[in-house]
Amino acid sequence: MDSSGEQVLRTVKSFVVRAGRMTNGQREAIENLWPLYGLKVEDGLVEGDEEFGCKAPLVLEIGFGMGDSLVAMAAAEPGLNFIGVEVHPPGVGNILKCLHETGIGNLRIFKADARDVLEKCIAPHSLARIQIYFPDPWHKKRHFKRRLIQPGFVDELTSRLESGGLLHLATDWEPYAQQMMEVLGNAKDLENVFGEGCWAEVHKRPQTKFEMRGRRLGHGVRDLLFRYTG
Ligand SMILES: C[S@@+](CC[C@H](N)C(=O)[O-])C[C@H]1O[C@@H](n2cnc3c(N)ncnc32)[C@H](O)[C@@H]1O
Repeated sequence: MDSSGEQVLRTVKSFVVRAGRMTNGQREAIENLWPLYGLKVEDGLVEGDEEFGCKAPLVLEIGFGMGDSLVAMAAAEPGLNFIGVEVHPPGVGNILKCLHETGIGNLRIFKADARDVLEKCIAPHSLARIQIYFPDPWHKKRHFKRRLIQPGFVDELTSRLESGGLLHLATDWEPYAQQMMEVLGNAKDLENVFGEGCWAEVHKRPQTKFEMRGRRLGHGVRDLLFRYTG
């Protein structure tokens, strides 16, 4: 990182969009369902009440992958409105399909870099919860700069949380879990809901695809839950 660390973070992406194969169902979902559930960065700030047609606490999930767990969560918590952000086209197609099949009305989707969404579409102190489950661990040292959970990005996240809002992270990669604990522990105006240095005991969260894979490989899973105190 050079002296303008923030600039470097802006140009180093936390993801690689692979030309993964889309199923016909996923492609059709993007073509047909996007107008119903899709949000665009260029449309600017999301007005939650207007977008969802009702006033409810707003939850943002970054990197929902295939999206099954986010749809399950939104269905289980109808009193909250959810926004999911993902760059992986098959995942976006899949979540649109699931969304339509389940018929829930409290979830909208961005197909975009979460950094752009945060900056241009989410008003300061407007979110009740931000969740990032199993962000890419970027195992190799030369790729650590691609990891999402770093001080600059965490400041961006906290600037979008309402007072008392929650930041919920999970990972199955122990060295990344340690990094998350250090970064969140040192962040301004964040307090660990479970006590300094403690992992969260979370029983309600539906398992994600990536988590299931990690558990099959014998990885332990760490959750972290922090509250914005600003
Ligand atoms: C390891 S996967 C985990 C997916 C899902 N949360 C799960 O647990 O199954 C991480 C996901 O984050 C997405 N991602 C990484 N950086 C992102 C960014 N800046 N904006 C949006 N999505 C991002 C990737 O495309 C990928 O699908």
